[in-house]
Amino acid sequence: MQITLGTQPFATVETEALVAYVFENGDPVQGRIAELDQFTNGLLKKIAKGGELTGKTLEMTLVHAPVGLKAARLLLVGAGKRDKFDSAVLRRVAGAALRYLKTRGVHHFVFAAREDSAAGDTAQAIAEGMLAADFESDKYKTDKKNDKSIDSVQLAGFADGERSAAEKGLARGVVIGESQNFARDLINEPSNKLTPRVLAEKAEAMAKQAGLAVDVLDEKRIVEMKMGALLSVAQGSIEPPRMIVITYTPSAAPKAGAPVLGIVGKAVTFDTGGISIKPSDGMEKMKYDMAGGATMLGVMRALAALKPNVKVICVVPATENMPGGRAQKPGDVQTAMSGKTIEVLNTDAEGRLILADAVHYAKQLGATHLVDAATLTGAIVVALASINVGVFGGADQAWTDKVLSSAKAAGEKMWPMPMDDEYREFIKGTVADIQNIGSGKGGGSITGAWFIREFAGDTPWVHLDIAGTAWNDDAKAWLAKGPTGVALRTLVHLAMSY
Ligand code: BES
Ligand code: ZN
Ligand code: ZN
Repeated sequence: MQITLGTQPFATVETEALVAYVFENGDPVQGRIAELDQFTNGLLKKIAKGGELTGKTLEMTLVHAPVGLKAARLLLVGAGKRDKFDSAVLRRVAGAALRYLKTRGVHHFVFAAREDSAAGDTAQAIAEGMLAADFESDKYKTDKKNDKSIDSVQLAGFADGERSAAEKGLARGVVIGESQNFARDLINEPSNKLTPRVLAEKAEAMAKQAGLAVDVLDEKRIVEMKMGALLSVAQGSIEPPRMIVITYTPSAAPKAGAPVLGIVGKAVTFDTGGISIKPSDGMEKMKYDMAGGATMLGVMRALAALKPNVKVICVVPATENMPGGRAQKPGDVQTAMSGKTIEVLNTDAEGRLILADAVHYAKQLGATHLVDAATLTGAIVVALASINVGVFGGADQAWTDKVLSSAKAAGEKMWPMPMDDEYREFIKGTVADIQNIGSGKGGGSITGAWFIREFAGDTPWVHLDIAGTAWNDDAKAWLAKGPTGVALRTLVHLAMSY
C-alpha cells in the first residue's frame, strides 16, 4: 500500500472514495465538513438533521455518488468529542476507514485531515493507523482475498505551508507502521515455521538490510558465555537457542558517558510450560510468547531509518520451552550468567529465566538504561486485561517516568505497577539465591518483574509486561484479530527523544 500526499481540492479529486472525519457536537457540520457540505449543496446538513451523522466515535456514514463531488463515495467517520480527540483517536479513525472501505472493494481513496491539526503529527498518526489496519493474518491462506486490498491512499487537507511538515510526518509514520507490521508478521508465525534459529536468521537479514550490526550467538557461544538460565529453558527442546544482538550506532560518535539504551525482548517461540505443562485449551496461542523479542527487532528496524541520536543495543534471547527427557524439572537449580543461582520451582516461569541472562548480557555490552518487553505473566491479564501494558520500574523513578511519558506521546496505554521491597521477599530462595516463582499468594506479575530486576541491579530498568496486550483476541474496527505490535511505538519514541 502506497500512501502519498495529494494536492487537489476535495471537490475535483477523482477517487473511489473521499474520507473525512466528523466531531461530535451540537452541529457536526463544522469546519472542513462545512466545506464539503457547501460542495454537496447542503447534503451533509440534511443527513445530520436526520440523525445519521452525529460524529460519535467510529460511526460510519457512507454516501454514494455525492452530488457536487468528483469522488464516487464520500465516507464520513465519527471522531468523537473534539476535546477528547488526539493522535490515538486519529489512528483508529484512519484505520477503521481503511478497513471499512477495504471490505467494500475500494482500492484507492483520499483521506482528508481536519483543519487546525499539527501537520507532521497528523500525517504520522494517519499513516501509522492505516498501515496497522491494513495488516491481515492470511499469509497461509491459499485463497487470499486479493480483490480486497487497498493499493494507495492520498492524504489531503494540508495547507501549502504545512506540506513539508506533513511529508516528514508521513515518512516517519510509514517507517513506524511498516516496522510494527514486520514485528506482527513474526509474532503471527506458527512455531513450526519460526524456531529460534529461523527467528535469528530473519533478524540477521533485517539487520543487514537496514545497515545494523548484528551478532547471533549460537548454542556453543551461549554455553561458553555460561548463560545457564537461558540454557536451562532450551535444554528440553531439540531446537537450539539463539541470543540475538543488534546494535545501532549514531553517525555522530556519542560522547564519553553518553547513555546507551538496552532493549531486551523475550522470544519464546513456543511455550508449552515445559514439565510444568500448560493446559491444552488455548495453548496454541503460546506461539506469541516471542512478541517482546519481535517487537524489539521491529524497533531496531525503525531506528535504522529514523536515526536517533543515541546508541541502542537490542538483545533477544530465543528458545522453545518444551517438556522431554532432557527438560529441566521443578526443583532444579541453575546458575545464571551473572553467577546468581536460581531454584526453578515452575518450568513455566521461563520468560524471566531467559531475560535474566539477556539483561545481564545487555549490561555487559554497555547498556546504561534498560527496557525489557515480555509476554511474562497471565497475572497481568487479570490485573489490566488487554487494555494497558503493565509497567514495572526499578529504583530510578525518572527512567520509569520517561518511559511512561513516551508511551503517552506514542498513544500506547501503559500503567505503572507497584514494586515495593516487600514483594522482593516472595522470590527469596530456600536452596538457591532466588526462586523463579513467588512464594506468597498473588502479585504474580510483580514477582516476575522483581526476578528480572535482580539481574538489572543498579542499572536503570523498566519492564513491560505485554502478555495481555500483544494479542488482540477479537477483531476491532481498526485492527485485525491477532498480534498488535504493542510497545514498538513507545520504544521508538523513547529512542527518538535523545
Ligand atoms: N508465557 C507465559 C505468560 C502468558 C500467559 C503470556 C498468558 C500470555 C498469555 C509465561 O511464560 C508463563 O507461563 N507464566 C506463568 C508464570 C507462573 C508459573 C508463575 C503464568 O503466568 O502462569
Ligand atoms: Zn511459561
Ligand atoms: Zn512464556
